[in-house]
Amino acid sequence: MVVAGLSRLRDLARPLTGGTPCGSGGRARLAAARLRGGREEECAGRARHASYFAFCGGRSDGNLGSMADVDHDPPNAPHVPVLAREVLQSFEGCNLRVFVDATLGAAGHATKILRRHPEVELYVGIDADPDALSLARQKLQPEFGPKIELVHGNFRQYESLVSAALRSRGLSGGVDGVLADLGVSSMQIDRDERGFSFMREGPLDMRMDPSSPVSAFEVVNSYSEQELGRILREYGEERLWRRIARAVVEERAAGPIETTTALSGLIERCTRSARRGGKRRRGGAKAIHPATRAFQAVRIEVNGELEAIDSALPSMIGSLNPGGRIGIISFHSLEDRRVKRTFLRHSGRAEDGDDRVSKLERYTGIRAEDDAELGGAAGPTLRLLRRKPFVATEEEAERNARSRSAKYRFAEKTG
Ligand SMILES: C[S@@+](CC[C@H](N)C(=O)[O-])C[C@H]1O[C@@H](n2cnc3c(N)ncnc32)[C@H](O)[C@@H]1O
Repeated sequence: MVVAGLSRLRDLARPLTGGTPCGSGGRARLAAARLRGGREEECAGRARHASYFAFCGGRSDGNLGSMADVDHDPPNAPHVPVLAREVLQSFEGCNLRVFVDATLGAAGHATKILRRHPEVELYVGIDADPDALSLARQKLQPEFGPKIELVHGNFRQYESLVSAALRSRGLSGGVDGVLADLGVSSMQIDRDERGFSFMREGPLDMRMDPSSPVSAFEVVNSYSEQELGRILREYGEERLWRRIARAVVEERAAGPIETTTALSGLIERCTRSARRGGKRRRGGAKAIHPATRAFQAVRIEVNGELEAIDSALPSMIGSLNPGGRIGIISFHSLEDRRVKRTFLRHSGRAEDGDDRVSKLERYTGIRAEDDAELGGAAGPTLRLLRRKPFVATEEEAERNARSRSAKYRFAEKTG
């Protein structure tokens, strides 16, 4: 099995790092203590120290002075990594000799982590998108050249990609940190020709990896009405899935649907009457564009995004050295549920007979028996350092719209 393979590799190999990556030393203990008990209460307004307040995303910069150089982007920065401060905090105090960034993108997080952790010897950056990799290379090479190993591939093959990267450097063993910032990048969305955006005219493509065989065009123009309905329902959580699937099939009978705007216009027209007078979102926020959920569904299908998460998360956890940390940023509930579920299972909180299982099942809709499919934990291997995910502060949400739906969960490998 995937996890077992890499764990075995790790166990057999000479430890690459001296001691546990995050678990030793006063700085590490302090950071871990901050990550554990009492932080959420502190956030609720009982902070006695500027450090706790700052950690919780407050405006006091008391404890973040030393991070100011790495966690602040100028207002007009071309790429702003999401929840960057929280990501840096979650690895604070860790001895990150080997780090895997499973979604390198424009290297926003990578740059910050590498600056904050000069001890990094190898930073493996994976991305399915060759354009992202070449941009990341340009950014990282001058400053961190010998430390970086960039890998084109899908993190669905996490174990083999990481093993190959380590081997290419003559290394073996586990890794000290893993980060995945899921989904598409703003760079991909903003390029019309990639066909991700319903706001921009482009071909129906949506592939993160342009060499993969199935694009949005095939999904939209060749899936049966039933298959389309299923992905709209399951991956878009789209209430009007029947209506949209029917309209797509009727429309394409006259000729293929070729562009993003042709699809979004069709969705807008066919759902107009059903959405008119629809409920406003909580807090009176503006309703989302009618094609948002359908585009998310098609994109998830094209890139096999949920399957990739399900197969990679156990491998990522399995690859960590004891004391190593994993952090995952998700952008919608289908992703976050998977991260939460896998972290809970690997932290031993969802064992059979544990009454927390039923709570977990109620929340995720996944039965305990399905655990094996997820590569479930043989025993607890993770410690959750914070029960609730980090979300963007108001200030970040204001600055970076993409951060508004982001949730960041992280955990530490125990053994
Ligand atoms: C949100 S962006 C990452 C941004 C990055 N953290 C930064 O700060 O620049 C996500 C990136 O992950 C890549 N990606 C998403 N899913 C992937 C997968 N399953 N395998 C490999 N790369 C993936 C996308 O191509 C995209 O470039």
